[in-house]
Amino acid sequence: MNISQELAESIRAAGQEHLLRFWNDITEDEQRAFAAQLEKIDFSILPGLIRDYVLNRPRTAIPDDLGPAPYFPAVPRNDAERSLYARAEKEGRELLRAGRVCCLTVAGGQGTRLGFDGPKGTYPIGPVTGRTLFEYFAQNIIRAGWKFGHPLSWYIMTSSLNHAATTDFFRKNGWFGLKEEQVFFFTQGTMPAFGYDGKLLLASKNALSLSPDGHGGTLLALRKSGALDRMKKEGTDIISYFQVDNPLVHVVDPLFIGMHALEGAEMSAVMLSKTGPFEKLGNFCVSGGRLQIIEYSDLPQELAEKRNADGSLAFVAGSPAIHLIRRDFVEQLTASGSLRLPWHRADKKIPHIDDAGNPVVPAEPNGVKLESFIFDALPLAKKTMVMEFDRREVFAPTKNKTGVDSVESCRQMLVDRDAARLEGAGVKIPRKADGTPDALIEISPLEVLDAEDARTLAASRNIVIGPGAEVVL
Ligand code: UD1
Repeated sequence: MNISQELAESIRAAGQEHLLRFWNDITEDEQRAFAAQLEKIDFSILPGLIRDYVLNRPRTAIPDDLGPAPYFPAVPRNDAERSLYARAEKEGRELLRAGRVCCLTVAGGQGTRLGFDGPKGTYPIGPVTGRTLFEYFAQNIIRAGWKFGHPLSWYIMTSSLNHAATTDFFRKNGWFGLKEEQVFFFTQGTMPAFGYDGKLLLASKNALSLSPDGHGGTLLALRKSGALDRMKKEGTDIISYFQVDNPLVHVVDPLFIGMHALEGAEMSAVMLSKTGPFEKLGNFCVSGGRLQIIEYSDLPQELAEKRNADGSLAFVAGSPAIHLIRRDFVEQLTASGSLRLPWHRADKKIPHIDDAGNPVVPAEPNGVKLESFIFDALPLAKKTMVMEFDRREVFAPTKNKTGVDSVESCRQMLVDRDAARLEGAGVKIPRKADGTPDALIEISPLEVLDAEDARTLAASRNIVIGPGAEVVL
């Protein structure tokens, strides 16, 4: 078959004729599939992208007036804040009871750093049982539904690379006890990968090398998949957003939800005090009165290290990527059917075929992938709200195999959190000389969502934990 005149012309105008080098070597079915893939690419924007992001190295503009972002502290500082937080907690519980909140997990990433073959959510992270990341979230969502009096819908964003494996995993595990219709999967968009010469890379003679378009793709994918319409029909207008790598997250938090609602925010964010100037977290900043997150890799060293008069870090607010997003904000942003968030460049090792059609598996980065980030929607919101949480309660990312933000550190934090909850409920926890629990403890999220649940659990059972014990509750 012949490729359409129009498509051939747009490919030529973008300087990408090499894509059709093997056109006559492939079967007609392959030609059809390849043409369909090429039709989805907006070739008219490629020359600009290639100039700005591939041939040149973009620099994140750091505005002159950039300052640290204000936030509500984890612990209220005065009577006015105490009364605000109490009202917010009540408001959050009411919104949950009324079914106005749903959960959203972004799970489309490739998880290359973890070196795990499969969707990251299927990783067995439970310190004793090997409960998977998805199971943690599912059981928290079930428990929160019981506790707050309304079942929660769960939206999960996959990518074309892991969609089938993710949905199979849920099917095989009986949706972890959720009703099948409570879970809605949708797939994010893709971006073609570029060689350093600005030419799109081919994965094979009849396919482009494509990769997920970043979690900024969530917003448009919510519209295109029909998720926004579904939320509207269900009566949910607040989206509780979190990443697949963090099993400690509160899948919904009444205080955070209530503050978001009382402040009239379109998008809100959880903030943690950074452990040091270079912790690998996005940094909350303001410029021109607008909240923005500057990625750790983009914050200039002198700003990262800047100190207040009392010696504390000036840019202390780090992002664990936990947000509340109003549904109508996403509707407005994507109303035209498109959304242009800024692109971010990542240099990657991208397998591809060369000019002779031979496969190349590079040992060093050989090209560029472009991603957009959801937090770049923050400056587009009319009103935002940032609230501090204790990291021991909400943040244990699983990013690497060992060391910082690893499987090991995540499991330790899960044990620490469960141990602290039991201790708070009067259970004696054996501790090592360095203060860490001398036992492996894993409490089912079906039993315990918060400190109140831990007290109920401790009151209903005689929990005895000996040194070195492995305990599953
Ligand atoms: C991310 C944030 C960082 C934050 C940190 C907290 C970015 C760029 N940075 O860092 O500000 O402080 O988490 O842990 O996000 N994902 C998709 N589709 C994609 C790409 C990613 O769904 O195309 C999902 C992943 O599955 C994961 C999440 O987004 O759930 C984060 O992606 P990742 O690349 O791991 O971000 P980090 O660099 O670790």
